[in-house]
Amino acid sequence: MKIAVANDHAAVKMKNEIISFVKDLGYDVLDFGTDSEESCDYPIYGEKVANAVVNGEADCGILICGTGVGISIAANKVKGVRAAVCSDVTTARLVKEHNNANIIAFGARIVGAELAKDIVKAYLEAEFLGGKHERRINMISEIEKKQD
Ligand code: RB5
Repeated sequence: MKIAVANDHAAVKMKNEIISFVKDLGYDVLDFGTDSEESCDYPIYGEKVANAVVNGEADCGILICGTGVGISIAANKVKGVRAAVCSDVTTARLVKEHNNANIIAFGARIVGAELAKDIVKAYLEAEFLGGKHERRINMISEIEKKQD
């Protein structure tokens, strides 16, 4: 399973810790940067991971900025993306089980590295429950189609 990862300048150290962690868990990683702590624009990195996920280059994505919010909003503009900001383990599990989130995001200025690892593990190990949740995800896709 391949995971696309990207971040802005606020999350370089966190990104590197998370990449090591997910590699140790046995996942492959596509790293879309940034590796620089120079100020940059998070939408660039949100879009890179979003595209990798919707075009099948990656199975899912991890996005990290200061709060996780800006980069996830950017990713969610790409059709087919369901990016969810998680600051706790329960939400991380539920965004897979109920929302089939294909990207999780979190804030390097909000959660510490150990909690971030727990969040990532909970998300990666959870399974989509389908059923009524599938119907609701299909409704989200219908909203996207209305924008065409
Ligand atoms: C960068 O300073 C910061 O705005 C960004 O990392 C993120 O928190 C935006 O949502």
